[in-house]
Order: sequence, then structure tokens, then C-alpha cells
Amino acid sequence: MTETLRQAAQAHGLDVGAAVAPGPLQRDAQYASTLARQFSMLTAENAMKSGPVHPEPERYDFAGGDLLVDFARRHDLAVRGHTLIWHNQLPAWVQADVWDYRDWQDFMESHIGAVATHYRGGVAFWDVVNEALDDDGNLRQTPWSRGLGSGYLEQAFRLTHAADPQARLFYNDYGAEALNPKSDGLYRLLRDFLDRGVPVHGVGMQMHIPVEGYPPLEQVAANMERLGALGLEVHVTELDVRLPVPVTEDKLAKQAQVYGEIMDTCLAAASCTALVLWGFTDGRSWVPGFFQGWDQALIFDAEYRPKPAYHTLMQRLATWRAPDHTRDTEAEADAHGKRCTNRKVRILLAEDDSVNQKVVLGLLAKLNMQADCVADGTEVLQSLASTAYDLVFMDIEMASMDGIETTRRIRQLELHCAVKSPPTHRPGTAGVQPAAVSDRLPIVAMTAHSWQEYRDPCLQAGMDDCITKPVSYEALRRVLERWLPATGTSGAATQQGQPSAGARAGEAEPGGTDGRPASAGQSGPEETTVWNRERLQQHMAGDEDLIEAMVEAALTSIPPALHNLEEALSRADATDAQRQAHSIKGAAANLFAPALQTAAARMEQAAERGDVDAARTGLSELTRQFDRWRKAVRRRS
Ligand code: XIL
Repeated sequence: MTETLRQAAQAHGLDVGAAVAPGPLQRDAQYASTLARQFSMLTAENAMKSGPVHPEPERYDFAGGDLLVDFARRHDLAVRGHTLIWHNQLPAWVQADVWDYRDWQDFMESHIGAVATHYRGGVAFWDVVNEALDDDGNLRQTPWSRGLGSGYLEQAFRLTHAADPQARLFYNDYGAEALNPKSDGLYRLLRDFLDRGVPVHGVGMQMHIPVEGYPPLEQVAANMERLGALGLEVHVTELDVRLPVPVTEDKLAKQAQVYGEIMDTCLAAASCTALVLWGFTDGRSWVPGFFQGWDQALIFDAEYRPKPAYHTLMQRLATWRAPDHTRDTEAEADAHGKRCTNRKVRILLAEDDSVNQKVVLGLLAKLNMQADCVADGTEVLQSLASTAYDLVFMDIEMASMDGIETTRRIRQLELHCAVKSPPTHRPGTAGVQPAAVSDRLPIVAMTAHSWQEYRDPCLQAGMDDCITKPVSYEALRRVLERWLPATGTSGAATQQGQPSAGARAGEAEPGGTDGRPASAGQSGPEETTVWNRERLQQHMAGDEDLIEAMVEAALTSIPPALHNLEEALSRADATDAQRQAHSIKGAAANLFAPALQTAAARMEQAAERGDVDAARTGLSELTRQFDRWRKAVRRRS
């Protein structure tokens, strides 16, 4: 069977969608089957607009929208709800000339409340507000702005979020695709929203364009980039490329090229996660009715035969390769500290140890991936509330809210992956049945202990897999292949060897690194080794820059920890002493510095027992081991 558009796009973590109508979906089998086979997302072309949905003040008609949601569920398509607040296609009973502030306010509250609540769980993305800006980037004069003033936009987002906290909320418009006064105004508006905590997650770029004279795509790319830098997602929401009639072969070829360029633009933009067409067959398109003298704007003809545009999209998807951003990624992660933008796949790294943060970010960068970093459980929950992630790496032992408790809370929220990968591609992990994990958000425990020790509580809390610290390149790659197969990490540059066969969650990693501290329970040469640099090199796939960065992170984080430790002991604050020792132990484990690790572990144990005297005695040993390690590092460089 040949690959479909949907499958080809999924390999890039990209959704492809189309605006559809319930009528043909019911009556026209070819319409329905083409949609289900070729697309992973649908938008309600008209069925969820306020006019059709809200025919009388106290009556709603959800039938059309329900049919779409049901179809989407059966065929695993994501649904874009379009649209809650717009000045067109309003219900006939709205009396724009007569209504006062109170009337508009009541309408907005009841409408959003009823519609967003009804479609909760069925609609993943809402175009909350449609076309609210004018060409200068100011608030457009509409019945909404006249009735409610400029605050109505913000209010619409807040109301929608209150009704459906899981939905991703978009502002949708035309003419704000490139860099121009309108997109500048939109950018400022959304930046202000984000600064003030207004729940907005994305921008819809409509893109109803003519085959010639469309917005310059390098500007569209720049616009996508600046929106992405705000942390916003971009969907191309209503793409069609209209042709002047009569349509010729040449025009169809040019059209194909335009579609291809737009696909490339989206693929290249970290923020662009969906490409949605306004229809898919020329037999059903708003274009000939709305733009006189224009037609055939879509990618299937009226008989559902793929047009040249379809083939070009497929070809671009097949040949597109992400540029290698490994270098700037690291630089960017450094420059922005916590903020690390990511293309397509969103990973959240919950880790309070700075060395391990560096390790995981560095190794991800080698796989052309990035992660957003947080350092405690509360931040994890906050991040998940505002962004759809595909995978979470969760340090089990975080200071304020530990990984197990955090996971338990996440599971209560029933979050799902943002990048949908077929569940069948997800082999079960130790003790977890694939069916049970299906498309829920994968959570991978990170622990410096062996997985066996933590397995049961982790699984019970709802974790899916485990990676042991120090995290190695190969182990990370295997975990990503297991949980994000659609992202093709297997194709990423591997600098060392093949993934080792049979490596599954819960099994020891090859080379004996089963996550236990390198020297734990051992005596002999390991015990006194200052720094096992060779082993670290192996573990990091020979990446000297990364090792350098890890060492730097340790050199900056350990001295203050030692200082705090000393102070904690002088105050006889065992809890704080334990925390400081724990962080030093973690850094040492990541660096394969066994003697330092052992000294820190002893200190931690003493503090845990509340034995401040023993801890005080251990302090000089710990300091000595740190100095030895530091000297060993200096000798090398
Ligand atoms: C259009 C529909 O396609 C038509 O069927 C309807 O008659 C009018 O609206 N921008 C939008 C869409 O946001 O909702 C519009 O859809 C097209 C322009």
C-alpha cells in the first residue's frame, strides 16, 4: 500500500488537516474515506460557528459538530474547533444595532461556556477569536469590539480556558502571515497576553492565497520564528492556493510548487505543527463562490484524484531533512538558560541537578532535539498546563515535589501526547502493557538508583519507563525510539555503534552501568579512582564539548553546595545538609567521580540519620575529594 499524506507528515511530527462539512461526510463515501486516509486533523468549516451552533438564545444545535468529532474519534484525527468569537456568521437573533454591553457580555459568556464545555475532550484546538485585527494591526471595528471594547479578546481566551482547560487556544486571522503592520500588532498583542498570563497557545495563519502574489515566504518563516520564540505554536489553518480560470497544466504545476514551498516553510519552522487546508477536494471549496474568476485551489480534484500539488507535498515530505542545528542549539540553550525551543517534538525535562540537566540537554542536542527544563514538580504541572508535551523525563528525587508524586498528579489530568504515534509502535515496557499506555503522555523516570528498587512505586504512580543516571547517549536514544518512534531518532547521527539489542526498560544498561553509583558496594581500584574519564567519554559518545560543559557545571555548582553544607552543619540543620550532599553526590555520579560520590553519599547518609557529628567529620573528606577531582580535571586541560 502506498504511503498517504498523513503518514508522510507524521514522520515529521506534523499534522495535516482539512476543513470539512458534516453533510458530505455522511453522504459521500469517497469524501469520508479520503479524509480518513489522508489527513490527521480536521476543522469544522462552518458547523461550529456561532450561527449554526446557537440558533436561538437558549438553544444549541451541536449535531453537525458532533458528527465531525465522532468521525475524528473513529479515525484518529485531531479536531480544530472553528470558531467561538467572530463577527461573521453570527446567529440571526443577535441584534447588533440594538445590543448594549450587557447583552454582548451575556452572549459571549453563555456561548463560550456552552460550546467549549460541550466539545471538551473532543476539540483539541480552538480558534477562540477569528479575524479581530485590522490591516494596521489595531483592533478591528466589529460588533464585538463596539459592544465590549478592547478587553473582549482577552476575556474570550479566559472564558474558553475556564470551560476547557486542556484545549489549546488559538488566535486565527488572515493577512498576518508575513511581516507587516498586522502581524506586528498581533505579535505585540500576544506577547502582552503571555506576559499577563492570558491563556493563549497558538496562532492560526489562514493563508487563502492566489497562485501568484502571495506573502513572501521568508517573511512567513521569520514570523513563525518570532511567534515560536514567545512559546506559541503556529498552525497554517486555512490554506488554499487559488488559480485564475481557465485552469491549465502550467497553472497546476505552479500551484504544486507553491504548496511545496509552504510545506517546506512549515517543516523548517520549529513552531509550525499543523498544516490545514480549507477543504481538500475542488468539488467542495468556498473559492469559486467567494473569489469570482478563481477556482481549483485544493490538492484533490473533484473526482478525488490527487493533483500535482498532492504529489509535490508528498515529495517534499519524503525528501525534507532538518538542518543540523546541533551547534546553535547548545548555544541557544546556554544563552536562554531555561528556554530551549524545539521543533515538532516537545520534551519536558524535570531535573534539579544542573550537571544532569547539561547531560540530557547535550545528548538530546546530538539527536537534534531539545527540551524545556524545570526543576521541581510544581513547575512540571505548570508547564503541562500551558504546553502540550510529547514526553517527560522526570527525576524521581526532586526537592520540593518528587517525581512520583508529580506523576500521580499528572495521571489524574489524563494528558495525552501531542505528537500522536500509533500505539502499536510502542512496545510495552517492564510491567506496562502497550494498551494501557496507548497515547497517554509518556513519563520516563530518571533515577540514580536501580530501576528495580523504584519500579513498583513508579509504575503505580503511572510512569512508563526508566532511564538511569548517569544518562548515556545510547540509553537516551533507545528510550526516545521506544516512545517517540515517529520522530525518527534512529536516523539521527549516531557517533558510536548500534543500539544494543534487547535493551528494554528495567534491564541493566550494557557495560554494567545499571544506574548504581559506580562505586557503590565495591571496594578495590574503583573506590579510589578520582575520575574515570574514559568511562565518561564512552558514556557521552565521545563528545568532548559535552564533557567540558558537564565539568563546568560541576565546577560552578559544587563549591557553593559545599559552602552551604558547611553552614548547614554549623547550624546543625541536618535536612539542609542532606540536600546539599545529595546534589554533590548526583553531580559526582554523572561525572564518574566515584571517590567524590562515595564521600558525598556517606555525608548524605549521616545527615539523614541526623548524625551531625559524623557529618562534620565527613566534611573534610568530602572537600578533599572535591579538590582531588578538581586537580585531576585541571591536569587534563
Ligand atoms: C467560509 C466557509 O468556507 C464558507 O462555506 C462560508 O460560507 C463562509 O466562511 N475565513 C474563515 C472561514 O475563518 O471561517 C471562512 O469560511 C473563510 C475565511
